[in-house]
Amino acid sequence: MAARRLFVTTALPYANGSFHIGHFMEYIQADIWVRFQRMRGHEVHFVCADDAHGAPIMLKAQAEGIAPEALVARIAAERPRYLQGFLISFDHWHSTHSPENTELSQSIYRALKANGLIDTREIEQFFDPVKGMFLPDRYIKGECPKCGAQDQYGDACEACGAVYSPTELRNPRSTLSGATPVLRSSEHFFFRLSDPRCVDFLRDWTQSGRLQPEVANKAREWLDGERGLGDWDISRDEPYFGIPIPDAPGKYFYVWLDAPIGYLASLKHHFDSGGAARLTPQGFEAFLADPTVEQYHFIGKDIIYFHTLFWPAMLKFSGRKVPDNIFVHGFITVSGDKMSKSRGTGISPLRYLDIGMNPEWLRYYIAAKLNPHVEDIDFNPDDFIARVNADLVGKYVNIASRASNFVTRFFDGHLADVSAMPAWTELDAAAVSGQIAQCYEGRDFGRALRLAMEFADRINQAFDAARPWELAKDDSRRAELQAVCSLCLAGFQALTVWLKPVLPALAVQAERFLGSGPLGWDDAQRAPSVVGKYQHLTTRVDPRLLEALISPDAPAVADKPAAASGKPAGKSAAAKTAPGEAAAGSSAATPKAAGNAQADGVIGIDEFSRVDLRVARIVAAETVEGSDKLLRLTLDCGEPQTRTVFSGIRSAYAPEQLVGRLTVMVANLAPRKMKFGVSQGMVLAAGWDDPARGGGIHLLDPQAGAEPGMRIR
Ligand code: 2FM
Ligand code: ZN
Repeated sequence: MAARRLFVTTALPYANGSFHIGHFMEYIQADIWVRFQRMRGHEVHFVCADDAHGAPIMLKAQAEGIAPEALVARIAAERPRYLQGFLISFDHWHSTHSPENTELSQSIYRALKANGLIDTREIEQFFDPVKGMFLPDRYIKGECPKCGAQDQYGDACEACGAVYSPTELRNPRSTLSGATPVLRSSEHFFFRLSDPRCVDFLRDWTQSGRLQPEVANKAREWLDGERGLGDWDISRDEPYFGIPIPDAPGKYFYVWLDAPIGYLASLKHHFDSGGAARLTPQGFEAFLADPTVEQYHFIGKDIIYFHTLFWPAMLKFSGRKVPDNIFVHGFITVSGDKMSKSRGTGISPLRYLDIGMNPEWLRYYIAAKLNPHVEDIDFNPDDFIARVNADLVGKYVNIASRASNFVTRFFDGHLADVSAMPAWTELDAAAVSGQIAQCYEGRDFGRALRLAMEFADRINQAFDAARPWELAKDDSRRAELQAVCSLCLAGFQALTVWLKPVLPALAVQAERFLGSGPLGWDDAQRAPSVVGKYQHLTTRVDPRLLEALISPDAPAVADKPAAASGKPAGKSAAAKTAPGEAAAGSSAATPKAAGNAQADGVIGIDEFSRVDLRVARIVAAETVEGSDKLLRLTLDCGEPQTRTVFSGIRSAYAPEQLVGRLTVMVANLAPRKMKFGVSQGMVLAAGWDDPARGGGIHLLDPQAGAEPGMRIR
């Protein structure tokens, strides 16, 4: 087959926060697919970028007193360490805040306008008179118009699930300033998705069999639902961190317009900076327009709408080629708990590397759970340990270690020719290889790994059945011994090929042992003729590492942070520590020491500094219906959004006494769901443990001059 040419992306992460495990699930999925394609000899351009624009980034930068560009640059600077740490092989990483993206976004917009698909309309929206800006729905809270639940966002109620517009909220307030928003009108720009040309094209594009069935069904519901496709509001008023709309002063593209265009901008920068010249001398625009080039986007199920409706329509009606497919995955949960998009889950991929866990364990575990459907996958610590230890150590690596032992001892590394052995023919590596390739192509990685492990089982069984430890005792049976070891090592080579998209670093070590050089897909059917000295290939997962990962209180394990050099993190710790010793890291307190400290009631400075104490201003205070103890406080903590905290100080303060006061809050306390809403922190107050002693409750009060967000240490 002629080499295919592929343009592959993952969703662009927002540039206002670090990576979380959801990002890496997607990157690992896409990276495995891309590495598989490269092994098959295809040309792949695999790119991503920071999604830099939008109100949350602008507001977060404002709260930190820095320019949004500086915030974006800070986040961008920490990316490579983790991408390399998890062996993600992007060819290029760019930013949507770039000249390429500005130029492409404006030119796509102009083309849509020339095609009669841009409209302008006056719309009324909530405006924060204190902040001087229109408020995105998520920055407005109030009472649900349907069920009356308090403290609900402007777009949907978390209590009853109702969806509404912010103007329907009762007693709305801005979460930025606490002010009551006012209605104001302004001119907005719309992409006319309801135009019959768009609807016809999208019906055809989404229903032609390319999309996963569940994704196609979703798109059909949206297309054929009662309301049909609505026009899409693509503009935002200043102040906004985004790309200016041509000939429209004070108007910017909504972040979701320029975000997917960032895929193209990253590819363009990759081409323009010479990264693709060796493969594709034709240049960016010609490559992108080439009908033989295949374009794929890996995304999560929460952004299907943008990628199956807006994105193909934007491309189509600006005269560009549309994507060949969108590959959608579900979410990752941790022991059944759903991940929050902004906060991630209980496991941090950053911590994973920082404590010295092997990135290939996670790659393998995630791959083993993935299939081509839009299903959530669960990270379960016990399952993780069992799966990685049983498959990688017990099945795959075990083959090389067992066989090489005899081969080194008796045959100086030389192997017999397996090609004519009936046992090799029976194993039928060619057929298995074909099936596994199909699974990788169709993103059924779980099945690919099951097939590989079944093959590993058969190799291990053949080895056991031959009883090589007995053959080794009998000089007259050397040929038999060499044959069974050679068969096993041929199988090990095949397995190395099949696992290489998932375990690229382990494959490099295995290739060194097999003396093969980089293995290509067809090498699964070839056998090595001589092997080198076997060196330990991987370690078992130590459960204490998982404890350190899951529990923020557990001590860190590794003696070095994730490698910044591009060497997979975890290698240093994993290689240096014998199984069972891993948790006794050199730099951190041992669990025993930590226990003693608690027993004494004495804590170290490290423990104290984990409590994030901040100055906060009380911007609103209200009584809570149904509680005679609590007040609902709205706090400005120097962050883009205010926080809601329920505090048991009603007996000491009337709400109006508190508004405008500064106080001290614990900013990194896990949010707590209460009957009345979610409490996002705690304010500090003084009082006796025993209320009978009297003395009242006294809210802590920083001296004048302190500002919301200042750290208390
Ligand atoms: O949902 C998100 O995290 C977005 N930043 C994804 C953007 S994907 C693409 F369109 F850029
Ligand atoms: Zn409700």
